[in-house]
Amino acid sequence: MKNNREQWGSRLGFILAASGSAVGLGNIWKFPHMAGQNGGAAFTIVYLICILIVGLPILLGELSIGRRTQLSPVGAFNRLSGSSNWKWVGYLGVGSAFVILSFYGVVGGWTLKYTIFSLTGGFDSLSGSPELSGQVFSSFIESSFQPIIWQIVFMAFCIGIIIKGVKSGIEEGAKIMMPLILIILGFLVVKGLSLEGGRKGLEFLFKPKFSDLNPSSIVLALGHAFFTLSLGMGTMITYGSYLNKKQNLMNSAIWIILLDTFIAMLAGTAIFTIVFAMGADPSSGAGLIFVVLPTIFPQIGGGIIWGTLFFFILFMAALTSAISILEVITAYFIDQKGWSRFKATFLFGGVITLVGIFCSLSLGNLNVTAFLNITFFDFLDELSSKYMLPIGGALTAVFIINKWSVNTFLDEILTGVQEKHLNRGLLINVLKVLLVVSSLIVGLIILNELSDLLFGSSLQKMVGL
Ligand code: TRP
Repeated sequence: MKNNREQWGSRLGFILAASGSAVGLGNIWKFPHMAGQNGGAAFTIVYLICILIVGLPILLGELSIGRRTQLSPVGAFNRLSGSSNWKWVGYLGVGSAFVILSFYGVVGGWTLKYTIFSLTGGFDSLSGSPELSGQVFSSFIESSFQPIIWQIVFMAFCIGIIIKGVKSGIEEGAKIMMPLILIILGFLVVKGLSLEGGRKGLEFLFKPKFSDLNPSSIVLALGHAFFTLSLGMGTMITYGSYLNKKQNLMNSAIWIILLDTFIAMLAGTAIFTIVFAMGADPSSGAGLIFVVLPTIFPQIGGGIIWGTLFFFILFMAALTSAISILEVITAYFIDQKGWSRFKATFLFGGVITLVGIFCSLSLGNLNVTAFLNITFFDFLDELSSKYMLPIGGALTAVFIINKWSVNTFLDEILTGVQEKHLNRGLLINVLKVLLVVSSLIVGLIILNELSDLLFGSSLQKMVGL
């Protein structure tokens, strides 16, 4: 069995695939509006610190667990723990994948719709009018049929790539889409910087104003560091399981983090230079992308092209992340149940699309979680990003410290590293501190959310911050 397991074709291919998972709606959609509302550069700095302290150790942990076992999460935890309970962390990951992809696929459909909307000149009528643009966007996402059709098309791309397998599907796809994202973003940044007044956007993103930073933005930056690296549901365990022993994991992890961060900064720069040049509101929140940008693209030269390119990279970023989510599920059924790749992907891709349809409908007329006073879409979003992913990530860190042993973890990290004169004792201590700190921090985020949910007040507010 083990010999037949698929492997990445090249180191570059793996790095592009893994950073393709990391780079997604989180980088291009979420990061800019979070930074916009939380002090711009001050937020960016906190976010970068969080990526290094919380992101790096857990990313390395997931990659190591995957490569060590050559198995996807459920099998991996089971094998390393030798007991059956830890495999539940793996099941939690598979469950998170179901939950996330259901609503991620809906937003993926929106990115496709907006690419075509821009290409056909649809933004022209929205020029300079955020109210109208807001209405157009709401009536689109709330309608019954249109968004579902786009979602199905998006999911079909996703299923099509995963059916082709690790090397000819995921890796080839990432090798085409990731460079395209980088190049097109580069053009958008140059365009943004060349607009009069665009540089004010740079200042906004990179010049810190610490007075705008409050405790809740720090919690937000922490949570996002986690989300943006696709941690906590075994994606990186699964991708790590297709690696051979020659790869230098530390190097790869740093590359993934650099690419992910670089693309978030580029996206932020492109968006804020354009927003500032056109005098739009930088702190307009989640609607910044789908509502504000369509009103300003028609005002810049060649707006149809720039708008179309922008939504096209958003689509590609969403797709490279979505495939990594589906792969977690497919790999589980291949590894643990002996299914064929085709059967696993087709069946569960289909089930997820179906659940996604209910997410989309919940924004309009049919909300299956109406009794909870929340749309099914938001319910799945909050359930995964506030609870399932952080819990999965914190448990992974605890697993490494308590069960697997940091010593073996270090062995795995050093497999494939040429440098022989390393101070093992020191490295073990550094890893321990980082893992303990990151599990504590993540634990705190979860507690904070729970207290908000149960008592209607987050911890910061309770202690009077
Ligand atoms: N990292 C992705 C983004 O920035 C989102 C994401 C979170 C994700 N967890 C994931 C993607 C797990 C794939 C797998 O948009």
